[in-house]
This record gives sequence, structure tokens and C-alpha cells, in this order.
Amino acid sequence: MRGKYFINTYGCQMNVHESEKLAGILREHGYTEANTLEECDIVVFNTCCVRETAEYRVLGNLGIVKKLKESKPDLKVAVCGCMAQKPGAEQALKKRCPFINIIFGTHNLHKFGDYLDLLDSKKYIGEVWDSEGEVVENVPVYRTSGVNAWVNIMYGCNNFCSYCIVPYVRGRERSRNESVILDDVKRLIGEGYKEITLLGQNVNSYGNDLADKEVNFANLLDKIANLDGKFKVRFMTSHPKDLSEDVVKVISSSEKLADYIHLPIQAGSDRILALMNRRYTKKDYLNKIDMIRKYIPGVGLSSDIMVGFPTETEEDFLETVDVVKRVGYNNLFTFIYSRRSGTPADKMEQVDIKIKKDRISRLIDLQFEIGNEEATKCVGKTYEVLCDEWKNGKAKGKSSCEKAISFASADDIVGKFVPVKITATKNNQLKGELVK
Ligand code: 5AD
Ligand code: SF4
Repeated sequence: MRGKYFINTYGCQMNVHESEKLAGILREHGYTEANTLEECDIVVFNTCCVRETAEYRVLGNLGIVKKLKESKPDLKVAVCGCMAQKPGAEQALKKRCPFINIIFGTHNLHKFGDYLDLLDSKKYIGEVWDSEGEVVENVPVYRTSGVNAWVNIMYGCNNFCSYCIVPYVRGRERSRNESVILDDVKRLIGEGYKEITLLGQNVNSYGNDLADKEVNFANLLDKIANLDGKFKVRFMTSHPKDLSEDVVKVISSSEKLADYIHLPIQAGSDRILALMNRRYTKKDYLNKIDMIRKYIPGVGLSSDIMVGFPTETEEDFLETVDVVKRVGYNNLFTFIYSRRSGTPADKMEQVDIKIKKDRISRLIDLQFEIGNEEATKCVGKTYEVLCDEWKNGKAKGKSSCEKAISFASADDIVGKFVPVKITATKNNQLKGELVK
């Protein structure tokens, strides 16, 4: 045994899954999982740089590790992920935190094992590849997300929204081979996973870069839905300009494809959407929502929304409020726009932080109200729920349309699909009872 590892993950589901790959590589190299940071021999920071706050969190926690290393000098520290991939970040991180032992970027994650091998002979290994290269397969994965298994279908993004750093640190779109994905999903269902979540920065572009023009996201979903077994498929993230009617039709035609779509609008004002380089208007977006609801009544919808994008006026913001009111999302992920150097929006006229904070709190309050109304409408309805947590007679799970529901169950039913009738709601939380 080489020692124990502890992984700190920041950011999106893509990173959560990549930490499962880091854990897979560590285990292949003889490491086992530590329960706490204090007991580990190697700590890995899998970082995010989508907002400044994520970077501050990483730097703050690196400070804690610096102290720990004073009393535990053999502790090894590795930093990887999006923050490490930024141009010049490796040198800057090493200068700021000279105690770091390994720094690598998003494009060379699969090389982590080689760096672990070098740890005995080298004090510091820093390697950040500046281009994405081919999709790398067969990286070991140690899964930690219960009944759900994450499956990458593509990497990178070609969209260059003007506020976003992702295309700069994740490279251009690369799709995985369709048959490799299907084999992965088949194997995972065979292993007993009940929920498969397909991952990509923009899953609707799946296949665009492949030679075989028959391969696209709708066809992939259809093929997965035709695999044997009882399971649900989810995916994220979709770009509103690319989500096609074909995809929505496929979802509506199969029980196995969850009735849920995360469709980030970012902002409601056409002027702001144009400045963001989103390439759709508020009307286009609302039309798409109507189309989705036509095919999938009862669909669960969620969105990402940013407030305080450069030059956003109160009038612009009210357009966002209007969309939120009209759509009635299940769930909303709200963010304050954060300047990212190297992106076009960083050079635009910025909005005062007080105004940004005021707007986000108004949006959160509004969504809380809407969420409550939506939750109340569920009382009396019965949903098929996949149970993902059970402890001392208390079970939790989610419906196909991604409503989180808690209910009592005498038996441990994790991984089972059960009918649950909603009996009450409190603060947006749904409570129900098992239907016998
Ligand atoms: N500032 C704030 N939020 C951002 N996002 C992306 N870039 C930024 C930024 N510079 C948000 C978007 C995206 C989500 C993953 O993060 O809403 O959909
Ligand atoms: Fe960023 Fe836009 Fe790509 Fe999403 S689609 S990762 S917001 S550039």
C-alpha cells in the first residue's frame, strides 16, 4: 500500500466524474481512500475556474494544506483541473504555493499515474498540455455516486459565450465513439447502476466532429433507450440553440429517458444574450420550452441564470425575471457574473457589485416562491421514484422529472423504482408515502 488519498473537488459534474477517474488512477497505484484530510498521504485539488469564488475557495484550502504540511512534511499535494489549465497558471500556482508536488491540466489528466510514479524521485512535477489531443479511453474509474453512473459522451466546447472560460481550459469539442459509449452504458447497467447521466459541455453537439454523419445526440439517446434493463438516462448540459426537436421526440418516446431537461438561458434580454454570444433570443428560447412541453407534458425544467453581466440594466434584468415567471422552473442555478480574464466580457463595462447582489437575491426569492407553488401542485400526485438514499426507515429519491422526494420505508430500497404519492410540501421539499 502506498498510502491514503483525499480528493477535493470543485465545480461541475464533469469535475465530479473526473475525480472518480483520479481516484481510479490512485487506487491502481496502491492508494486507498482517507476519511479525512488529516489522515491522508496525498491530497488532490481538482479545481474549477468558472467563477472567481471557485478559485478563492481553492486558494483558501491550499492555505489549510500548507499548515497541515508543516506538521506532516511527507504529505504530497497535487493540483489539477480547470484552474491549473489556465495559461500561466502552473508557474503562478507554484510560486504562490511552493509546497505543491504535482500540477497538471485537464488535457493530461490520464497521465496522473506517471506523475505518481515520479513522486519518489522528484520533489516537483509540473506538466500542463496546451492542446486537447485525441479522446483518451480506458482511464480507470472509481465510482462514488451511488445508484448513478456518470458517462462522458464528449469533451470541450466550441461556443465561446463571451463570459465563459470553459472553451479556453477544456479545448474544442471532441465526441467519444458511439460504440464505446454504448458498451460503457451496457456494462454499467449490468453492474447494477440505475441511473446513467451523460455528460458534455454541450451534449446536443454530440457527433458533430465525427466522420459518421449518422451519429448524433438523438440517435445516441435512442440507442441507449433500446438497451435492456430498468434504468433512467439523464444528460447535461444542453445549449438552447442546439437542443433539437428530434432529441425531444426521442425523450418523449421512451420511459428510460428522464422527463427532465436542464436548459440554461443565462439571461432574458435579447441585447444581453447577443452580447453574451448565445445565438438565440428570448422568444426562440420560450418557443423551445413550448415545443418541449408539447411533446413531454409534465417535463421538469431547470436553468442557469447569470445576473450582472456587463452593461445589464434594470430593464434587462426584468426580462430575465419575466422568463423565470413564464417558464416555472423546477430548479434554478443562479450566479453573479464573474470577470474572467481573457474572455471578451471582461473588457466590457462592468456592473456594480451592489446591484449584482440585489438582483441575485431578488431572483432567488422569486424562484423560491415559484418552487413552492410548483411543489404545492404536486400534492396528491403519484410519481415513480428511484430511491437513492435510505437510513433508519427514511428514504429519499427523485422522480423522472427530477423532483426530490422523501418518504418512509421500512426496508432499504436503494436502487429500486417505487411509486410514491406526495402528501405534503415544506420549503420546496416534497414528502410522500409509498403506494403499496
Ligand atoms: N460568471 C458567472 N457565472 C458563469 N458561468 C459561466 N461563466 C460564468 C462567469 N464568468 C455560469 C453559467 C454556466 C454555469 C455552468 O456557470 O451560467 O451555465
Ligand atoms: Fe461556457 Fe457557453 Fe460553452 Fe457552456 S456553452 S461551456 S457557457 S462557452
